[in-house]
Amino acid sequence: MRVAISTGGGDAPGLNAVIRAAVLSSLRRGWEVLGIRRGFGGFLEDDQLVDLGRESVSGITHVGGTILGTTNRGNPLAWPVTRPDGSMGEVDRSDEVLRAFERLGLQALIVVGGDGTLRIANALSQKGLPIVAVPKTIDNDVRGTVVTFGFDTAVTTATDAIDKVHSTAASHERVLVVEVMGRHAGWIALQSGLAGTAHVILMPEIPYDISKICAKIREREAEGRRFAVVVVAEGARPKDGAAVLKEEAVPGGIARLGGIGERVAAEIESCSGKETRTVTLGHLQRGGTPTAFDRVLALRFGAAAVRAVADGKFGHMVALDPPLIKLVPLGDAVTGWTGVPLDGDTICTARELGVCLGD
Ligand code: F6P
Repeated sequence: MRVAISTGGGDAPGLNAVIRAAVLSSLRRGWEVLGIRRGFGGFLEDDQLVDLGRESVSGITHVGGTILGTTNRGNPLAWPVTRPDGSMGEVDRSDEVLRAFERLGLQALIVVGGDGTLRIANALSQKGLPIVAVPKTIDNDVRGTVVTFGFDTAVTTATDAIDKVHSTAASHERVLVVEVMGRHAGWIALQSGLAGTAHVILMPEIPYDISKICAKIREREAEGRRFAVVVVAEGARPKDGAAVLKEEAVPGGIARLGGIGERVAAEIESCSGKETRTVTLGHLQRGGTPTAFDRVLALRFGAAAVRAVADGKFGHMVALDPPLIKLVPLGDAVTGWTGVPLDGDTICTARELGVCLGD
C-alpha cells in the first residue's frame, strides 16, 4: 500500500501532529507514505514530493505549521493562469492531479484542510480519487465535526492577548478593540471574548448596532468603570452594512477579511468620546505551539484517517463526535459551514453575564 498525505488552506496548529500520526500508523501497517508539498498543487510539480519515513516525523507533534507546506491559492479546479493578453484567468487542472496520482502508484490520499480544501477534495473524490479527509481550521467552521484542531490554540492565543490589553485599557481609561480571525464564523471571538472577560463581543452571526455598543460603554462609565475591552471577529458587520474586506478574491484564491476593528474603534470614539485603540491579532492566532487538546485531537484524526483508508472508507472525513472519532460523508461536510448557534448556551451565558453582543 502506498498512501499520500497533503495539507491545504491556511495552516493551523496541530497539522504536524496529524502528519505524524498518519505516517506512524501507516508505517506500522507496512505501508509507504508520500508527502505532497504545498497542497494539491504539489501533484502538478515534480519537486514537491517527499518520502515520509519515521525520521521525517520525529519530534513534530508540538511544532506549529506544517512540514509539508500549504497554500490557500492552489485549487487545481481553478488554477490561476496569465492569459496571452496579460489578464488573469483560471483553468481546470484536476485531470493532471488524477494522472499524477496514478503515475506515482498511490492507492489513497489523506487530505488535511479547511472548508475550501475539503470542497476541492470532494470534487476530486467525485472524479475517482480515493480520498479520506481530515478537518482543520482555527475558524472551527467545518460542518460535521464538533470541533476542528487548531481552534483551541487560536482561542488560547487570543485569550492571552485579551488578558494583556485589559491592564493597559484600565490604566489609560481607554477602549481597546481586539480584532480576531474566524472568517464568517464568530467562534474565536465568542470563546476568547468570554474567557478574556471582554465587555463587548461582535460576531458575524449577530450584525451589530453601534448605538448598543456605545450604550454599553456609557453604562460602564456611569458605574465608574472607565475602560472597556471589545472583541471583534474579522467577519463582523453592522446591521445595515457588509463585512470589511482587506483584499478582493483573486483567481484561484479567496477574498481576505480584515479592518473591521479599526472601523468599530473609530465609531466608538466618535459616539462615546473615549480614546480608543485597536489591536489586530492576525496570524499570531495561526502560529505557535498547539495546545495539548489540539495535539491529541490531531493525533486522533491522523490515526483515524489511516484506519479509514485501511477499511476502504474513501469519500469520508474523520470528525469528532465526543467521545468518539467518527466518519462522515465528505459530501455532507462541504454543504456549508457552521457558525455559532444563536440559541446555544454559550451565547446565553454571555448575555447573562451582561456582555454586549452588539444587538
Ligand atoms: O481560515 C483561517 C484563516 O486564518 C481565517 O481566519 C482568515 O480569514 C484567513 O485564514 C486568512 O488567510 P490568509 O492567511 O490568506 O491571510
